Amino acid sequence: MSHPAHYREAHPLIFVFTHWINLISMVALAFSGFYIHYPFFANFMGVARGMHFFFMYVILINLFVRIVAAFFVKSATRLGTREVETDIKNWLPQKLNRHQLGAWLKYYLFLKKDHPIGAKYGVLQKIAYIVTIPLTLAAAYTGFAIYAPFMDAAFFAAGTDWVGGQMNMRIIHYYIMWVFILFTAVHAYLANVEGVAPSRLIFAWKEEEGLRFDADGKVIGGSGH
Ligand code: HEM
Ligand code: HEM
Repeated sequence: MSHPAHYREAHPLIFVFTHWINLISMVALAFSGFYIHYPFFANFMGVARGMHFFFMYVILINLFVRIVAAFFVKSATRLGTREVETDIKNWLPQKLNRHQLGAWLKYYLFLKKDHPIGAKYGVLQKIAYIVTIPLTLAAAYTGFAIYAPFMDAAFFAAGTDWVGGQMNMRIIHYYIMWVFILFTAVHAYLANVEGVAPSRLIFAWKEEEGLRFDADGKVIGGSGH
């Protein structure tokens, strides 16, 4: 199903940057985290830990910037028009999404070929992106709880006691990595399943070819994907 939303207003440049920083930090954290967990080649532990301790701040600052920007940056909230509104509107419940959960589930379960056309993000897409916020905070919490400079702070020590010690906290931190890897795999697949136009936009800030708009800013032509 074609839904020509792949124009710059859908992802203003700052979100292209925050997305890149997210991707780069995740790769760096997962790679260095894997290495810390299981040093699969020699003489790299110092670098791996340094990488991890650097990118953990990068990803948290980036998350903060992305959330604050949602309240200040305007982005497209309605498919097929260049109309923009404050970005946070894309993340709250939207009228355009209402009563679509069932139809989206059927689409994802291969029971239905086309998905509904609603707001910029589909119901489950929106939920999945929002869930990355508590997930990143959970990685940060469990990470700081096993990080010497912070582990004794009451806020982290209480959690460590609650889960039954440092080793358990470390294992939880490790499993959170797998949740991120699964999220990213499914996300990268779904992002490209209808064509590469969404990725060209979020990575290269390139608009879909042949997009045309009428005087009201409505899309009247485009290649679809
Ligand atoms: C967001 C803030 C994060 C903080 C504060 C943090 C902190 C830490 C710390 C302190 C360690 C122990 C390092 C050592 O003792 O040498 C660690 C290990 C690890 N981190 Fe993170 N981390 C964060 C995010 C992530 C993310 C997003 C991932 C995966 C995508 C990840 C994956 C891992 C893994 C797999 C380990 C090894 C755990 C083990 O030994 O089994 N971390 N992290
Ligand atoms: C191979 C890797 C990836 C690909 C191909 C990819 C692709 C995309 C695409 C195409 C979009 C725009 C979706 C749309 O307009 O409908 C998007 C948005 C998004 N992606 Fe990714 N992505 C990747 C990695 C990641 C990673 C590692 C994360 C975080 C863990 C992530 C989190 C997000 C979020 C939160 C959004 C919403 C964008 C916003 O408004 O800030 N992505 N991604």
